[in-house]
Amino acid sequence: LDQYAVIGNPVAHSKSPLLHAAFAAQCQQAICYRALLAPPDSFAATVKQFINDGGRGANVTLPFKLEAFNLCTALTPRAQAAGAVNTMCFEGQKIIGDNTDGCGLVSDIVRNAGVTLQGKRILLLGAGGAARGAILPLLECQPAELIIANRSIEKAQQLAEQFSSFGQISSSEFAQIKGQFDVIINATSASIAAQIPPIPDTAYNSNSLAYDMMYSDQPTVFMQHAAKHQAQTRDGWGMLVEQAAEAFYVWRGMRPDTSELLTRNMSRAI
Ligand code: ATR
Repeated sequence: LDQYAVIGNPVAHSKSPLLHAAFAAQCQQAICYRALLAPPDSFAATVKQFINDGGRGANVTLPFKLEAFNLCTALTPRAQAAGAVNTMCFEGQKIIGDNTDGCGLVSDIVRNAGVTLQGKRILLLGAGGAARGAILPLLECQPAELIIANRSIEKAQQLAEQFSSFGQISSSEFAQIKGQFDVIINATSASIAAQIPPIPDTAYNSNSLAYDMMYSDQPTVFMQHAAKHQAQTRDGWGMLVEQAAEAFYVWRGMRPDTSELLTRNMSRAI
C-alpha cells in the first residue's frame, strides 16, 4: 500500500483519514492514510522519518503549515502565494509543497453552493494564514472587487498590496466597511472564542452568502449573526472535503466525487 498521512499536533481529531479512506474506496486506490502526531519541535524529523518509512505524500495541519513551507525543496505557485503548505509530495528526498485550501474554498462556494464569484463583491475577514491562502484562488474567479478587512489593519494592507497585480483588491478596517457584499468569508479565528468580527450590519443582505471557514456541530456565532441579517450561511465542512479531494487528485491523478461526503455530514456523524 502507498503510504500517506496527515501530520499535526493535535491530530487525533482530524477527519482527513476518514475522507481519504472514502476517496480511496471510491476510486479503487490501494492506499493507507493515517494521522501522524509530530512533537511541537520535531516536525522536520517526523517528515523525514515518514519519507524513510516509504511515505508518498502528506497533508499538514496546525501548527505546521508554515514550517512545511520552509521545509519543502520546491513549491507550487499556489503554495508560494499562500505562504503555507498543506499538501506535500515526496519524490526521493525531494519534497514538493502545494496548498489546496484556497482551491477547496472556491470549489465549495462555486460548485457546491452554486454561487458564482465573477463580477461579485467579496469581503474577506481576517489576514492570517487562512485568509492569505484564499486570496489568489478568489481573485482568479475575477470578482468585481475583493476587500480584506482585519482587526490589525496593517496586515490587511500588506496583503492587499502584495496581491494587487492579480486583481481588484483593497483593505479596510471592520468598522469602515461600506456597502453590501455578495459573499462574506470569515477567515478569522474569532469563532473559536465565540466572537464576531464587528462589521456593519449593512454588509449583509438576503442575497449574501456568509461563509465561515470554521465548522462545528452547531452553526458558528458568525453564521448565526449573518442569518439574523437574512444572509445565506455555510460552514467550512465543504471546504475541508474539497481541499482533501484536491490533495487526493494531486497524489493519485483521480478526482473523487465529493457529493456523498458533503451531504452525509461527517462532522456530526463522527
Ligand atoms: P489562521 O492561520 O487561522 O489564519 P492566524 O494566522 O493566527 O490564524 O490569524 C488569525 C486571524 O484571526 C487574524 O486575522 C486575527 O486578527 P489580527 O491579525 O488582528 O490578530 C483574527 N482574529 C483572531 N481573533 C479575532 C477576534 N476575536 N476578532 C477579530 N479577529 C480575530
